[in-house]
Amino acid sequence: MIAPHPERLGRFINQLSAILDQLPADQQGEILSRSAPLMAELVREDDWLDATFAEPHPQHYQQYLLYLDPEARFSVVSFVWGPGQETPIHDHGVWGLIGILRGAEQSRSFSVDNSGQLVAGDCVELRPGEVETLSPLDGDIHQVRNLFSDRVSVSIHVYGADIGKTERRVFLADGSEKLFISGYANVPVTQPRSRH
Ligand code: FE2
Repeated sequence: MIAPHPERLGRFINQLSAILDQLPADQQGEILSRSAPLMAELVREDDWLDATFAEPHPQHYQQYLLYLDPEARFSVVSFVWGPGQETPIHDHGVWGLIGILRGAEQSRSFSVDNSGQLVAGDCVELRPGEVETLSPLDGDIHQVRNLFSDRVSVSIHVYGADIGKTERRVFLADGSEKLFISGYANVPVTQPRSRH
């Protein structure tokens, strides 16, 4: 089941759709700078996300599809972290927006040096109401974890594609890369998937 659209989420979807109607898809910087305030408004109040889409899983984090643009120009996902859960190091390959609704996330960026080695970069902590933007043009390799080991955190992610069907990369400890397709926790799987 995909989420119904409570008023706050509906307004966000309409406003982001209007921005994407106006801007070519390759103007990622402009898309992000104009949509970040919309995300800040969306996560300003934690009063709209149906509990169905904030349900943690005991073993791994969950990604629930809340909305998919009819032309797949963007997807809106609730990311639900159980205590201590984290992603592998991964990228998106498309523009992304993250807004914290509940709890807190820690996000660390990575880059690849001239010899192909992953290099850890800055680490930021994001609290409720805070927004982070990601663009592959600036490098979007990162790893995210629930800042808390004793409670659930929830963030809202927006990606410039149907992210559950988008092939992207995970970076392993031995320096190798692997392609993956994440799917969504609430959308039937039609192909093998891994959770990132
Ligand atoms: Fe990510």
